[in-house]
Amino acid sequence: MHDQYQRPARDLRLSVTDRCNFRCLYCMPLPDYAWVERKELLTFEEIVRLTRLFVQLGVEKIKLTGGEPLLRRNLEDLIARLTAIPGVRDLCLTTNGSLLAERAERLRAAGLQRVNVSLDTLDAEKFRRITQRGELGRVLEGLFEAKRVGLHPVKINAVIERGVNEDDIIPLARFSLEHGFALRFIEYMDVGTANAWRWEKVVPKAEIVRILMREFPLREIGREHESDTAVRYHLADGRGDIGIIASVTEPFCAGCTRVRLTSDGKLVTCLFSAEGYDLKALLRGGASDEEIRAAISRVWGARRDRYSEERWEALRAGRLLPPRPRWEMIRLGG
Ligand code: GTP
Ligand code: 5AD
Ligand code: SF4
Ligand code: SF4
Repeated sequence: MHDQYQRPARDLRLSVTDRCNFRCLYCMPLPDYAWVERKELLTFEEIVRLTRLFVQLGVEKIKLTGGEPLLRRNLEDLIARLTAIPGVRDLCLTTNGSLLAERAERLRAAGLQRVNVSLDTLDAEKFRRITQRGELGRVLEGLFEAKRVGLHPVKINAVIERGVNEDDIIPLARFSLEHGFALRFIEYMDVGTANAWRWEKVVPKAEIVRILMREFPLREIGREHESDTAVRYHLADGRGDIGIIASVTEPFCAGCTRVRLTSDGKLVTCLFSAEGYDLKALLRGGASDEEIRAAISRVWGARRDRYSEERWEALRAGRLLPPRPRWEMIRLGG
């Protein structure tokens, strides 16, 4: 199954809830956001059935996201069922880490392989300001517990916003190197509709590297897989694992094999899409596996998304793309 630019669908990002116990300034939507109603949520049976069909169509990697995925009740049951699907080679969770300390062991036992934890600063007060309700100490406990139970790698995701946390780049790197966490710095993106994104808020990859180089001699080792979001670096002596996700200044749409499923069953082909295809309607309307596979192939086959490349082409020409409707981050899980 390939899209219009010959990209296969290899990675399935499953958003299991749009709820979150944080309210990060760069993510939370406007007050009129309509939360997904409980009866609209895909059941675990429905998620597993769809995942099987996606795997039959070429998906190999599953990412659980939210909102905050650990708020979805009995997530461990879902993980155990997803692990049992033949052909899934990577099962990972992206979380804000607030509930990880008490859940890591059970998640690991259910079959989760690794976790990505959002952490933009090591300053407790700033952490509280950015997340609006998070407690840094709990997230740090979550990180260490994840490592202790053998989730590997444990990756830290740090969104860098100019004027907010450039000064956290070095401390985060030092912390991650010291404790054996992989670390990725993320360029601030114009996701969703409420974060008042401006080019001036982006700290470009080249600048992040320059800042890091003051303290750490880095060697770029590139992307592990063509479809990866992050360009990776080691220290000159081979230690460390630092990545940069430069969706703004080095867009990676050409290798983008990510397909997204919202918690209420919409198939979305790009983080910056405005619409989704309603797979739940098919599921609940009694469609056969073959009919659902055909629908997924049709939607993917028509895909022409390359938003980040278009944005960069516009920025380089001194323009911004005209505003357009799009899904909120908490619906799509990043
Ligand atoms: P790994 O497989 O663990 O490397 O994860 P990942 O980097 O694919 O996903 P993660 O959930 O950790 O997301 C890290 C950052 O990359 C977040 O800011 C996401 O919004 C962003 N991201 C993930 N996929 C895409 C994508 O397809 N396009 C863009 N523009 N950003 C993405
Ligand atoms: N730009 C870049 N990354 C973002 N994330 C949330 N909002 C943004 C944004 N505006 C990140 C979160 C989390 C991941 C799923 O997406 O920090 O690590
Ligand atoms: Fe929640 Fe993640 Fe959004 Fe923060 S970025 S509000 S933790 S979903
Ligand atoms: Fe993929 Fe869209 Fe992100 Fe480009 S902007 S990498 S097409 S999800």
